[in-house]
Amino acid sequence: MDSSIVVPMHVHGAAGRASDATRASNASARRRSSKAAMANGATADAAARMASSDELARLQARVRELASELTRTQEATRRHVAQELHDSLGAELTAARFALAGVETWLPADAPPQCTTALATAQRSLDAVTEAAQQAVGDLHSPTLDKGIVCALSHWTNSFAARTGLRMSFVCAADARLTRLSADASLAVFRVAQEALNNVAKHARASGADMRIETTAQHLSIVVSDDGVGIPAHAGQDERQFGLAGMRARCNAFDGELRVAASAGQARGTTVQARFEWKALMGNAPRARRTAIRL
Ligand SMILES: Nc1ncnc2c1ncn2[C@@H]1O[C@H](COP(=O)(O)OP(=O)(O)O)[C@@H](O)[C@H]1O
Ligand SMILES: [Mg+2]
Repeated sequence: MDSSIVVPMHVHGAAGRASDATRASNASARRRSSKAAMANGATADAAARMASSDELARLQARVRELASELTRTQEATRRHVAQELHDSLGAELTAARFALAGVETWLPADAPPQCTTALATAQRSLDAVTEAAQQAVGDLHSPTLDKGIVCALSHWTNSFAARTGLRMSFVCAADARLTRLSADASLAVFRVAQEALNNVAKHARASGADMRIETTAQHLSIVVSDDGVGIPAHAGQDERQFGLAGMRARCNAFDGELRVAASAGQARGTTVQARFEWKALMGNAPRARRTAIRL
């Protein structure tokens, strides 16, 4: 046992001095050992921090991987549904159109006028359904991205405005990187913008919407704002609604995020900001990491 522990605290004289020296040396030993302990503790803390930041990075990578898997599955489902709609519904609509044309041809000249009116109504309904089906197939199919994301979005916002009657503006940053996006990255950006505008048409009861493509050194953002009724607080919590969840997944797959909020400085409206990281967009991050990371 250490002698200093058994020496009384209030001893004077030589014995006291001797024990003072012992205490001093023990104190310095204790300081050394406590420094060593602190150093060990700091090393352990640093190791724990490294381990938890490694774990965090691994989980973030896994989230990106799952998000990109989800979007790939969505694209495959879209292609399948578009094909089905085109083949089965399209074929039935064509058959109905031919049948109605036959009725019109063979309708006797003295047929009651109600027959002609009913026929015209049926043909108009058929036209409306055909147009809606064609629109749905067009939305579901992958857009043409050969001329780049800016061209695809500008084309799509024009056709969206014509179809919905909404006043639309489209503003895009002059950034050369926008012309160098891969097909996967362009499709993710396109789908997010498409869903944001579809939501405006479906839910906002707006008179207009603005789409902006903004860029910074680090991020590409799609910002869609409308002057509609505003987004309810519970929006996106219903698990049957895939729109916002899909947009979020597409952003996550490229190290980004989705923000949905009331339009700033306006009495009404919603602003959706979808942010993607350039590094991930250019490097096609989700695919590159996919072999390396498993839970
Ligand atoms: N621009 C918007 N204005 C008002 N409400 C919106 C807007 N965008 C989304 N919402 C609300 O958010 C909900 C979730 O949207 P979403 O996930 O795309 O599902 P869905 O369009 O299938 O209903 C919508 O049902 C709607 O209530
Ligand atoms: Mg939606």
